[in-house]
Amino acid sequence: MSIAQIPVSIEVNGRRLSTQASPVARLSTLLRDHFGLTGTKLGCDAGDCGACTVLVDDEAVCACLVPAVEADGKQVRTVEGLSNGTLSALQASFLHHGAAQCGICTPGFLVAASALLEENPAPDEQAVKDALGGVLCRCTGYRKIIAAVMDAGSGIPPGPGHNSGSVGASPTRLDGMPKVFGTDLFGADEWPDNTLGVMVIRSPHWQARFSFGDLAHFLETTPGLVAVYTAEDLPGQNCFGVIPPFADQPALAVDVARFRGEAVAIVVGNPEAIADLDPDTFPISWEELPHALSMDEAMAEGFAPIHAERRGNVLTSGTVRRGDAEAALAASAATASGSFETSYVEHAYIEPEAGYAFMDGDTLVIKACTQAPIMDRDDTAAILGLPPERVRVIPTATGGGFGSKLDLSVQPLIGLAALKTGRPARLVYTRAESMASTTKRHPARMRATIGADAEGRITGMVFDGDFNTGAYASWGPTVATRVPVHASGPYFTPNYRASARAIHTNGPVSGAFRGFGVPQAAYMQETLYDELADRLGI
Ligand code: FES
Ligand code: FES
Repeated sequence: MSIAQIPVSIEVNGRRLSTQASPVARLSTLLRDHFGLTGTKLGCDAGDCGACTVLVDDEAVCACLVPAVEADGKQVRTVEGLSNGTLSALQASFLHHGAAQCGICTPGFLVAASALLEENPAPDEQAVKDALGGVLCRCTGYRKIIAAVMDAGSGIPPGPGHNSGSVGASPTRLDGMPKVFGTDLFGADEWPDNTLGVMVIRSPHWQARFSFGDLAHFLETTPGLVAVYTAEDLPGQNCFGVIPPFADQPALAVDVARFRGEAVAIVVGNPEAIADLDPDTFPISWEELPHALSMDEAMAEGFAPIHAERRGNVLTSGTVRRGDAEAALAASAATASGSFETSYVEHAYIEPEAGYAFMDGDTLVIKACTQAPIMDRDDTAAILGLPPERVRVIPTATGGGFGSKLDLSVQPLIGLAALKTGRPARLVYTRAESMASTTKRHPARMRATIGADAEGRITGMVFDGDFNTGAYASWGPTVATRVPVHASGPYFTPNYRASARAIHTNGPVSGAFRGFGVPQAAYMQETLYDELADRLGI
């Protein structure tokens, strides 16, 4: 049922703008989709990240929480209104301090800081922290941002002008200007006319067999839909993975979904129909299967392999040996031993995965946020049965990735929709589906013993670690083979034996996250080195 539109008129950055909007539309939607002001970013769409901060009648608010109708007749200021084509002192200060890395959070910080500086041109640190407390940054850290706001009134010269070229100088980042102007285009920030929306149907179960109902009837009876695609519609090889010999992940699952959040189908239609679509109306039936979320459950006798050819749910393992570690430990003046566990960690970049695809003649063009456009191109081409030269991936600005945007996400799905329909197709993950479907840091379970002589020189170390790689391989092989190389840290260890395994479970897929398992091992090793030093009294 479509909802009647109502007129909304707002003074935005000094210009009166009017439109018709749904009574349930948010101010953020109005600014971005109706008025094209995509400097206001969406990270969570739930009032948590502050990326959408704007000023409504001079008060900083999250635009994603404000009903558009509530802004009717009011004054709204966005990042686009902070300068008139030249840098404001605040924007110049952000550039000077290197306070914008990926830049997805920058508009929110700039707008929140502007409200503060208008009231208090020389704020102290606490005042800045209080004013910016509702805006999150995952890249820069907050020190540079706080310093930039505190220095904004101190006469920093506007414009770059900071690149002296001398050794040791701190250059202004080359792509900094669009970030502080709010004009940098991220994955969700552009789309052509006539673009179709895409909704992904995902498994609600950790492991389940599924079968589709009457898809043709669903399509016919749901207004605004154009197509439904399943694995059967993929023209190529329905399998991807960042390490080709271990590639095992389907773009759309076939018969069985192996983790909660796995994609099984896409629905394509006009954007309003997709926005209004209730995924629970999609005709699919599920039969839950036994699942394993812990490595112990996955390796227990009797639990079937998640991938038939990987016995015991061991994806792969790695070992490094040097000297005789056990003998060295036995002869050590002191040893320290311990068992350690770490949990899943979500990358939580502010920008959820997003992009659009379109046909340019014979070439499929995909514009999306990514850390690995060439890998995206090769995997997407294989999935869609196209030669790589007929797929072009253009990276947008990427609002944080930290390793997770090395793996495919929206690319084959929007590619399939554009290829099949011939029309541009766009997909912006919700925060919930970003968290459910993309890779995480590997949970680890590690045991180690380190020995030293009476002077504190390390004599030997043994290490065993299991890393929960989730339902598909992703970067699991890298973790299993890299951790044994790095488990001793940067210290000379004459006798060494280290082994690690990547274990499949039905948990989220674990992938790259700043260090490929090495940070987990560093936490373990530094704890034991401290304990060893205490034992030796040094
Ligand atoms: Fe609005 Fe996060 S607070 S998008
Ligand atoms: Fe703040 Fe990337 S620079 S989230």
